[in-house]
Amino acid sequence: MPNVQQTEATLAINGGEPIRKSPLPWELPGAQWIGDEELELVTKVVQAKSPFRFYGLDSQQMVSKLEEEWCKRWKRKHALGVSSGTAALRIALAAMNVGAGDEVLLPGYMWVSCISAIVMQGAIPKLVDIDETFCMNPDDLAAKIGPKSKAVLVVNMSGAPGHIEKIAKIAHDKGLKVLEDCAQACGSSQNGKQAGSHGDIAIFSFQLNKNITSGEGGLILCDDDDLYKRCVAIHDLGYTRSDEGRLVPNDERYQMWGFGCRLNELAGAMLLAQLGKLDKITGAMRNAKWKIRRALEGTRGLEFREIPDPDGDSGPFLITIYPSKEKCQEFTKALQAEGIKGPEGSLTCITMAEWGLHWYYNNPSLVKKRSLANDGMPWSHPANDFAKSYSYEKGTLPKCDELAERSAMLAIASTLSERDVEDIIAAFKKVAAHVLG
Ligand SMILES: Cc1ncc(COP(=O)(O)O)c(C=O)c1O
Repeated sequence: MPNVQQTEATLAINGGEPIRKSPLPWELPGAQWIGDEELELVTKVVQAKSPFRFYGLDSQQMVSKLEEEWCKRWKRKHALGVSSGTAALRIALAAMNVGAGDEVLLPGYMWVSCISAIVMQGAIPKLVDIDETFCMNPDDLAAKIGPKSKAVLVVNMSGAPGHIEKIAKIAHDKGLKVLEDCAQACGSSQNGKQAGSHGDIAIFSFQLNKNITSGEGGLILCDDDDLYKRCVAIHDLGYTRSDEGRLVPNDERYQMWGFGCRLNELAGAMLLAQLGKLDKITGAMRNAKWKIRRALEGTRGLEFREIPDPDGDSGPFLITIYPSKEKCQEFTKALQAEGIKGPEGSLTCITMAEWGLHWYYNNPSLVKKRSLANDGMPWSHPANDFAKSYSYEKGTLPKCDELAERSAMLAIASTLSERDVEDIIAAFKKVAAHVLG
């Protein structure tokens, strides 16, 4: 813990001694825990020469086992492994029958995949502001639902849900479908309910930065049999499969078009092993993060992101809020100079303004209403005429814009030592005494 001498010492940015000299560990939560368990299951797939999920020389059924485990833990009827979180979002929207003439409401702080999934379906993204949870603001959602609204894409950002129950209720009461994006919050919960329990469909990502990882991968959860079968057909080749894993082209209800986004057995094996470690990984991040946060609570000028249920936070990010953009930048630079940063190339300690494509106005493809082909889709589709006046420029969402400028983010590695945690607390206190005092 810092003593008076330490907090009063000259800031490292002004030539003083930094709190620490070695970098903090890489965040990449799940990757840090890859070990013998993953190796053992992946080896089984390799030895069985059976990397395809639906059949093989000696299928090990890794993806099927993963889906079963997922259904048990999340208490949902159906789970489907897919190739990425981005694919999962698009499959989910297609399964929900979202297309031209529909708008999907989503928060202005999210990930570019959320927008692309909507646009690629030929539908229109409608931006909703956030609140201090850094997730969708339920009141703004209620105000923005209109006659063309078909679904709400609610995103559990930076490790934890916001006011998810309220949001799901508002959407469902208006007859809208809810797609819950848990890519950044796998293993988090709220009031004892797992993130991924609230939407008609929930999706996860297992890309390298996520709480558990197979490098690439994703998963879809739902309860409705028809939605599930639509997801199965769409994620594959446009048709469902028989028990033997063969395509079933003659079931008229599920004669569709497929995206070719199956999950392979090697990724399934890795994820089965990673799932067994999920609580340890999130527990490590949550404990470290809340130790830091509680030690800093009450510091003048320093506020924190609102987390409705701290016990359910999966913990990968500490978001701090400052009185102004200038203070936020000054504080973050000073923290980095104190040695609160990760290895070269990591994004461990940054201002939220530097968090790129997470903010709506940083997506040029959205702001400039780009299309993939030269047809101007989805903006040019006659059924989307209702959205002609929609703007995605900075200034569309005042709270988003304000929080983006005066907040900062510290990634919490799942392998922080006691010493790392103490250094982080000491550095925050030292910098706060000078910059916010
Ligand atoms: C909120 C959110 N949704 C979706 C995705 C997409 O996941 P993937 O990278 O697996 O396609 C991500 C990935 O970063 C994400 O953060």
